[in-house]
Amino acid sequence: MRLSIEEKSILDGKQGEAARIALSVLVDLGEIFGAKELMTVSQVHIDATLYMVDAGLELAEKMADLGGEVAVPTSLNPSSIDLQRWKAYRVPPEVLLKHKRLEKAYLKMRATPTWTCVPYQHGIIPRFGEQIAWGESNAIAFANSIIGARTNRYADLMDICAAIIGKVPKFGLHLTENRKAGMLIRLKEITTQMFENEAIYPLLGYLFGEMAGDQVAAITGIPQNIKIDSLKGFCAAAASSGAVGLFHMVGITPEAQTLEMCLHGNKPENVYDITPKLIEKAEDRLWTVKRDAVDLIVTGCPHYSPAEFYRLVQLIKGKKVHSSVIFWAFTNRSVYAWIKDNGVLSDLTAAGVMVFTDGCPLQYPKETWHFTAAMTDSAKFANYCFSQRGLYTAYGSLENCVETAVRGKICRRKSPWRKK
Ligand code: F3S
Repeated sequence: MRLSIEEKSILDGKQGEAARIALSVLVDLGEIFGAKELMTVSQVHIDATLYMVDAGLELAEKMADLGGEVAVPTSLNPSSIDLQRWKAYRVPPEVLLKHKRLEKAYLKMRATPTWTCVPYQHGIIPRFGEQIAWGESNAIAFANSIIGARTNRYADLMDICAAIIGKVPKFGLHLTENRKAGMLIRLKEITTQMFENEAIYPLLGYLFGEMAGDQVAAITGIPQNIKIDSLKGFCAAAASSGAVGLFHMVGITPEAQTLEMCLHGNKPENVYDITPKLIEKAEDRLWTVKRDAVDLIVTGCPHYSPAEFYRLVQLIKGKKVHSSVIFWAFTNRSVYAWIKDNGVLSDLTAAGVMVFTDGCPLQYPKETWHFTAAMTDSAKFANYCFSQRGLYTAYGSLENCVETAVRGKICRRKSPWRKK
């Protein structure tokens, strides 16, 4: 790679050991992907905030101790736990200690403690065309596809290196030529009534991810009035079933006002259709529970917005979560403060909903919670839950989740796309 005089001096250690390590990692990354040079990014979102193994913690502490500091505004993905309400989240002391060390290291490096996987809703929000370096798959898909900012799918620990240097290798989705759609996915026979059921969007995202894999694909047929939280659910599901970094939702996403725009004037190499039958089958794949009850309801994956809490409180206010069920809703600190101020939080708490911030429900402490089956309105959570937590899962609309929680028995109302 061609390096500037300043970059060479960083590699010589003239700006400290943390910067030297970070840049040498980025140069290695660039050489693997054939990048010719580095480019500046205006902001970074760090995904390596979930404590999973000691290596991630040790690198963050090492960089902080070596004087590493972020060079551009940098937000943080969720921790594995609620860093504030850790007692209610039953976090074992030894687990808490490691998370607190990780928190300390990132704050020492002056990252912004957003602790959220929706930095595009509440964080350091990029604009169209902005070059950024984000980790967290749902956020990457959203930034590229809905906002039109430009980022690769940065892996854990690459993100902190990018933040310390404020640069990344110039390759992949940062470049216009790599943002062209080569595949076309069309929605067929999906009626207005089906689109009115918001549970359809995560299912469409899940199918889209399976079809697209790691390809840039375009999708036609999504209604223009799709809500931002439905786009969020689509992105999260698509980036969990496929390695989706960028898609083009024709007529909705900025680089895809027309199909020709996102195909860059070419014909698609592959064309696939999503039909009600495929949606029904996808819904069945995300329903692995064999019993008629669950002991956990998970909402807020990705983190809930004020609008999502508004819907939840409308559905559950005045009711009570059954004693056999734990109901979780995850969000970030900003939204928590707002729903606390407007009384939504107290209504949810009275109904038995436990609202947590900072954390990721997929990483809940298994040592202290002994669940056997979960229901969720998140296709991403349903997709990952068995492989990561060993829990059988049911995917359903928020209405189904609330009814299940209150009755203590699974409620599965027939979705409009189902024949049976
Ligand atoms: Fe966010 Fe965790 Fe879901 S990071 S998208 S809450 S799996």
